[in-house]
Amino acid sequence: MIQLSNVSKYFDNEYVLKDITFLIDKGALVYITGPSGAGKTTLLRLIYMAERPDEGNIIVAGWDIGKLSRNSIPFLRRSIGVVFQDFRLLQNITIFDNVALALRVQGGRPKDIKETVSGLLSDIGLKYKANDFPQHLSGGQQQMAAIARAVVSKPMLLIADEPTGNLDPDASANIMKLFREINLRGTTVVIATHHRELFRDTGKRVIYLENGRIGKDTIG
Ligand SMILES: Nc1ncnc2c1ncn2[C@@H]1O[C@H](COP(=O)(O)OP(=O)(O)O)[C@@H](O)[C@H]1O
Ligand SMILES: [Mg+2]
Repeated sequence: MIQLSNVSKYFDNEYVLKDITFLIDKGALVYITGPSGAGKTTLLRLIYMAERPDEGNIIVAGWDIGKLSRNSIPFLRRSIGVVFQDFRLLQNITIFDNVALALRVQGGRPKDIKETVSGLLSDIGLKYKANDFPQHLSGGQQQMAAIARAVVSKPMLLIADEPTGNLDPDASANIMKLFREINLRGTTVVIATHHRELFRDTGKRVIYLENGRIGKDTIG
């Protein structure tokens, strides 16, 4: 699903990622970890095409993203869901509308959209918040909604950057459970976190970044 070959990224002539090579299989759930400044966010940004590598190749779902034309980037980008530490829900529309956004952009039928979004909100226990605005939800609930928004159009790949960064342990556990469920339904999931508790004893792959290089590639 994701293949990096000798990828390096520089900012101001200093490397942030250096000679990164790995393969993430379709259907996997993988954690990227390492201290602050190690390059986790930059690595994810390369995968979802917010940045381009200075050296090396990145292949996502069979597409060599260094060779994609500008026009085809948005097309591939649509099949990748992204979740951030600070949720990034639109504050002036309801939870329902936030989750429905991608389907509306794609021109879905209103009836189908209603059914899909309502079903998804039920699954995550937020149906009763559908008509509320984001600021009326707890941080954990907002992150649940942000994840729902990211997966509503069934992306092949879900990328999360410190998704539990601001959340308490109970909310974090719920968020991790949701990622595992999404993964079990077939979506490849990549989560960057510096919280070791999140991947300890999961039996899942953990890639450790240290100063922009892969320090360890192991099982949590
Ligand atoms: N746009 C940028 N311009 C300059 N330096 C950057 C930029 N983005 C990240 N960096 C630097 O790259 C390094 C890695 O950052 P980041 O990928 O955010 O690490 P992490 O997510 O592991 O904390 C840091 O030293 C950071 O200051
Ligand atoms: Mg980061």
